[in-house]
Amino acid sequence: MKVTYLGHSAVLLEGSRTIYIDPFLTGNDRACLSVDDVNKADFVAVTHDHDDHLGDAFEICRRTGATLVSIFEITCRGEGEGLAVEPMSIGGSIETEGVRFSLVNAVHSSPGSDPTGVIVEMDGKTVYHMGDTALTSDMALLPDFFRIDLALVPVGDRFTMGGASAARAVKMCGAKIAVPIHYGTFPIIDATPDRFVEAAKDVAEIRVLDPGESTEL
Ligand code: NI
Ligand code: MN
Repeated sequence: MKVTYLGHSAVLLEGSRTIYIDPFLTGNDRACLSVDDVNKADFVAVTHDHDDHLGDAFEICRRTGATLVSIFEITCRGEGEGLAVEPMSIGGSIETEGVRFSLVNAVHSSPGSDPTGVIVEMDGKTVYHMGDTALTSDMALLPDFFRIDLALVPVGDRFTMGGASAARAVKMCGAKIAVPIHYGTFPIIDATPDRFVEAAKDVAEIRVLDPGESTEL
């Protein structure tokens, strides 16, 4: 599986299916991709209803015919706009087109629905996008159910974990590889992932990706 960081919390997973997660592209100064250039997607997963995560999700679904995978309240809105949807809630998993999606707890805020993290299992690899979250001991349960190859970890502080707590989150969820996200986009969050990299370097393999950069699993 190829994992491409698109900037902020937006990522693209490419394997037997093409999956966008939290595709905030329009209005994101760090995005490396315009929504006008997105022509292929099978699924778009959204962790929660904040603009910097919901972003261009509906537009990508419209353009590509991709299925929106998210918590029930968000998929209701998508369905109202004519999108194909897979409604879920925290604690549940679904399997569709050879991909397994699981929604897990995130401790954060969100206007119309609970915030989530999403775990994607595809082609024998497991990716955990933490969404926006505080450190929560729920993460320590995940290794009982998932062997997480790569975690996308919000490290920018203020709205999410900062470096030290994010490092602890990686340890708790048992991820082998961690990619920091949700930093540097706005002046009020950490400009760099340095505090996380320092705190997490002995916990997992840390791969810092610039927007547009990919890593292989
Ligand atoms: Ni948020
Ligand atoms: Mn956010």
